[in-house]
Amino acid sequence: MQPHWWRTLAYLLGLLVLSLILWLAVDALAGLLALCFGLALQLTHHLRQLMRFEAWLASPTQPVPESGGLWGDVLHKVAQVIQAHRDDRARSHADLEQMLHAARLLPDGVVILDAQHRIVWFNQAAQGQLGLKDKRDLGQFIGYIVRNAAFNAWLTGAREGAFTMPAAGDSNRTLTLQWVPLPRAQKMLLCHDITELARVDAMRRDFVANVSHELRTPITVIVGFLEAFADMEQPDPRQFKNHIQLMREQSDRIRRLVDDLLTLARLEADADTQPEPVDVPTLVRSLLREAETLSGGRHRIGLEVDSDAGILGNPKEIHSALGNLVSNAVRYTPSGGQITLRWRNTPSGGAEFSVTDTGEGIEAQHIPRLTERFYRVDRGRSRATGGTGLGLAIVKHVLQRHQARLRVESTVGRGSTFTAVFPAERIIPAASATPQPPEQAAA
Ligand SMILES: Nc1ncnc2c1ncn2[C@@H]1O[C@H](COP(=O)(O)OP(=O)(O)OP(=O)(O)O)[C@@H](O)[C@H]1O
Ligand SMILES: [Mg+2]
Repeated sequence: MQPHWWRTLAYLLGLLVLSLILWLAVDALAGLLALCFGLALQLTHHLRQLMRFEAWLASPTQPVPESGGLWGDVLHKVAQVIQAHRDDRARSHADLEQMLHAARLLPDGVVILDAQHRIVWFNQAAQGQLGLKDKRDLGQFIGYIVRNAAFNAWLTGAREGAFTMPAAGDSNRTLTLQWVPLPRAQKMLLCHDITELARVDAMRRDFVANVSHELRTPITVIVGFLEAFADMEQPDPRQFKNHIQLMREQSDRIRRLVDDLLTLARLEADADTQPEPVDVPTLVRSLLREAETLSGGRHRIGLEVDSDAGILGNPKEIHSALGNLVSNAVRYTPSGGQITLRWRNTPSGGAEFSVTDTGEGIEAQHIPRLTERFYRVDRGRSRATGGTGLGLAIVKHVLQRHQARLRVESTVGRGSTFTAVFPAERIIPAASATPQPPEQAAA
């Protein structure tokens, strides 16, 4: 028991003993009067303390009133409990604020709805995605803001699972929505922007469709000839040879397509390889010989090497990328045209390899799309020259892996210049670049 309890007990015992003595020594009335007086004193003291306690409880943020004894103990303990409770509340409030702050900044939209689908709270992302206005829309029925009958039907539970719809004010963006039930019949609406996913999915579908389409044509030709052979009783040897030749060309086409697809897949999957010095002046001289072989004397082909710089990179990939630009120039320039290969320094400390031709040129609207897979300005013409439409996609990938970029300038009827621009950090002095034997460097 606390000392203050002992003191109160001792007071009451003392009062009892004193009253008893007075009872015995004087008379019963004196004893009773003394007892009543003593009890009244004690009661008055406790009533006063109780009133002070009640006054303090009305505003417990004030300092605890000074009270000794039993009341001092009680007040002190109550003050401790109140303070602990207040600390708990402050902590919970801080935690809640922190959670709300995080929820406000979530990249996904979050909206809390009450049982009648009125907006209780929403975050920043939801404002943009659903077109909600800060504060103004709080308490509004969400169906008045998101004016989409299917959305409202889904929200009221008539439709199960996720719901997909265009974002407010931007029909090019696609949202997928889900809701989860909260206590008191509230709902948490979650909105996720899947535009990027949908774009990647569309790209994947396009890619599969393109590959299938590219493979179908040569396979149809080969199958057609095989069926014709099967029906022939006595094949004409000249016609037979001619058909075999056509079948060989189509098989070559399939092989080239598969090779290019594998190259692209490897470029996408491989982590960057350890860069090696590439002797570009030697490489472009070997590209000149390759161009002459491919041209077979149909073009005038020139070479200007104004820089002896080399680059740090993957020799096979660089050869394949620059070789693609050269082979395009030969394939898309009519006989008698001029093709010039150049290697020179750039004012910013880098270097660039360019191929200029006097071919038919490319219309401006096609230029930004040239590096897309399977993109060809003139499908028929590109196919006729054996093109798969993957060459410049490979070039773009390779250059990106070397922090380099592709620049295309072209004028219809006059010709084109394709330039691979390498940044200063990839350039090395000529002496450090070891020559790459062409056959080893070829992709
Ligand atoms: N020097 C050029 N002059 C005119 N058009 C060009 C030139 N280089 C490329 N093109 C156009 O860009 C398209 C895409 O070129 P890309 O190299 O990616 O594919 P491709 O040459 O058709 O096939 P691949 O290179 O895979 O065998 C070509 O089909 C052609 O229409
Ligand atoms: Mg090409």
